[in-house]
Amino acid sequence: MSSLMVDLAERSYPIHISANLLRDPEAFRAHIKGNKVIIITNQVVDILFGAVVTDTLSEFQVEKIVLPDGEQYKTLKSFESVIARLLELRAARDTTLIALGGGVIGDLTGFVAACYQRGIPFIQVPTTLLSQVDSSVGGKTAVNHPLGKNMIGAFYQPNAVIIDTLSLSSLPKREFAAGMAEVIKYGIIYDKDFFDWLEANQQGIADKQQSLLQQMIRRCCEIKAEIVAQDERESGIRALLNLGHTFGHAIEAEMGYGQWLHGEAVSAGIVLASLVAQHKNWMPASDVCRIRALLAAFGLPTAPPKGMGYQAFMQHMQLDKKVQANKIRFVIPNDIGTAVVTDQVDEALLRKLLDAS
Ligand code: GLY
Repeated sequence: MSSLMVDLAERSYPIHISANLLRDPEAFRAHIKGNKVIIITNQVVDILFGAVVTDTLSEFQVEKIVLPDGEQYKTLKSFESVIARLLELRAARDTTLIALGGGVIGDLTGFVAACYQRGIPFIQVPTTLLSQVDSSVGGKTAVNHPLGKNMIGAFYQPNAVIIDTLSLSSLPKREFAAGMAEVIKYGIIYDKDFFDWLEANQQGIADKQQSLLQQMIRRCCEIKAEIVAQDERESGIRALLNLGHTFGHAIEAEMGYGQWLHGEAVSAGIVLASLVAQHKNWMPASDVCRIRALLAAFGLPTAPPKGMGYQAFMQHMQLDKKVQANKIRFVIPNDIGTAVVTDQVDEALLRKLLDAS
């Protein structure tokens, strides 16, 4: 089993990455407090992996809560229904929640774990690429509000993250591509060699070759762990992880949650941020082409939705969590491999880029 640590003093925890971990009681045992576990999952993941994980955890008393699938269910209403079920099941502080699924399940379960009886343990068991490389690591938990993505939440770290890379075999192509947007993001903001490696191995990755997937997911988790260890609550470097997200969250909210997948919206956002960099002469046009080509190679969108112009973007972006003193702050690459947060993005440039679509 390949493992690495997220180093956060008394809140430190391991990330285990290997094939077949969903079937490995050893991967779970040390991280479960008490003898009661409650798996929280969705209808799609339950059919694929619910019985497998229940079986793996058979030495514990196992219950399961199954939610509908989709970003549109990442709401306070779902949160409340899970809390009600935990009360019915008599869950207490010695109960461990297992978030089995993608980013929606992970974020929602984490927020429930943070709030229920003022905090109970939970384990992230991400089954989508996006959640394996990003959302399950680092303790961001949340639900959406109709006016803004992830507007209600808490920083709350899991006891462990258990990544079974074989779970990606059944992941639909569109969902896999959405995860690749976050993977490519790490290369752009932090690691040029990794970006080059992704370009060189794009076919093998698209074919889901296990050894490449394991290497790729591990590198993403290493980068995320390094960044989170330095800045758990996003007062500095962690904001770089939001490359493409200011534009992307606006697209998700405007289109209606669940219409554009999070990773698809982030992909279009990464291209917009790269175009801003090009206009600022921070990045040559050839690098913007490389970024666009790598995203497109995985079938990701490289432009915002048709007809979504400057006004619609601004309405949503003004609610972004990085706004300071009423100024929208963007993550902008200043080369492949580094990025900065800046509020110095000319309004005329934004209009030009956003009204062009
Ligand atoms: N997904 C960005 C972060 O965890 O900070």
